Amino acid sequence: MKEQLIASFRARYGRDPAVIARAPGRLEFIGNHTDYNGGTVLGVSIDRSVWVAVAPRAEAEWRLGSETHAGTITVPAADAPAKQSGAARWANYPLGVIAALPKFGLRRPAGFDFLAVSDLPSGAGLSSSAALELASALAFLALSGQQAPRETVVQLCRSAENNFVGVPCGVLDQGVSGFGREHHLVFIDCRGPKFATVPLPEAARFWVFNTHTKHALVDGLYAARHRECMAAAKALGVALLADATPASVLAARDRLPPLEFKRARHVVEEIARVDATVLALRAGDLVAAGKLLTASHRSSQTLFENSTPELDFLVDQLVSAPHVFGARLSGGGFGGAVMAVTSPEFMDAQATAVADAYARRFGSRPEVLRAQTGDGAGLV
Ligand code: GLA
Repeated sequence: MKEQLIASFRARYGRDPAVIARAPGRLEFIGNHTDYNGGTVLGVSIDRSVWVAVAPRAEAEWRLGSETHAGTITVPAADAPAKQSGAARWANYPLGVIAALPKFGLRRPAGFDFLAVSDLPSGAGLSSSAALELASALAFLALSGQQAPRETVVQLCRSAENNFVGVPCGVLDQGVSGFGREHHLVFIDCRGPKFATVPLPEAARFWVFNTHTKHALVDGLYAARHRECMAAAKALGVALLADATPASVLAARDRLPPLEFKRARHVVEEIARVDATVLALRAGDLVAAGKLLTASHRSSQTLFENSTPELDFLVDQLVSAPHVFGARLSGGGFGGAVMAVTSPEFMDAQATAVADAYARRFGSRPEVLRAQTGDGAGLV
């Protein structure tokens, strides 16, 4: 990717980049919609990334290009950038980072040329947007000769997503891209937030089945779940749902509106599953961890109601196949991808059988990706 990026940068801007940064995509291992509720979550950074190259520019302009989008966007470098729309919308991720820098005591870069390339599919639930934010932030900081703690970079990128792009996401995607480590999972206690890594048992393999389906209202549905969780916390008399427990939520069943009860129950039980998964992984018990992953999916399906028939079908197929420890939707839901954790004996033939069954049922094939763990974001 690096050579391709340098060659494309030269072709577009007629000179070499000064800085290159890379940030990986992530899988949500377990912890569905726990992050913005102050809970815990486990994610894994994968071996596919977004790469960003930048070079200073004499004119006070930020010029942004992406190999996956046509055209180059030019923005005056003086003030806070304006939000882009239409085909230029992808640029809101790097521009959102620029907009957020002063909030974190950091300077905006002077004029630059920017190019992004990626071997991370977008729209597959692998957080290509967080990867673009992280790679952009590291490139901008290096270009302007600034340093910031990794926690700050992660928070800066989340702020870009929350306040500039306008998605009320938690810290999972940016945190995993920022703190990932090969052969490890990233554990985040989202209150704080605090980041740690947990070794991944050697036998674990990751498969991603991307349905290429996306609910038309996915952003609105995510925001609606966020609102429902906050309303449930208020009704329970806690600041965030992570302050409640499975027992306290069950005890409040009659006091809560049925919908809020279901959302709250999912979140508090999911947090308990995350903590149980960490214990299972530390004991090297992938069978126990896998059962927790599948239980997480069932809770998303019935209580949080962010699954779809396509995702449920894939999970049903996968968990009844040999060599599969567990399977679940990964990320926001309402379409997107299912992740399976398998032993090394699960091979292409098994994955193809699952994809064939899906094609017979839904008339289109899911994209099948074999993912490996990879290191978190960094300068190249
Ligand atoms: C999306 C968001 C994350 C998290 C997950 C659901 O990926 O970006 O912050 O809320 O959904 O767990």
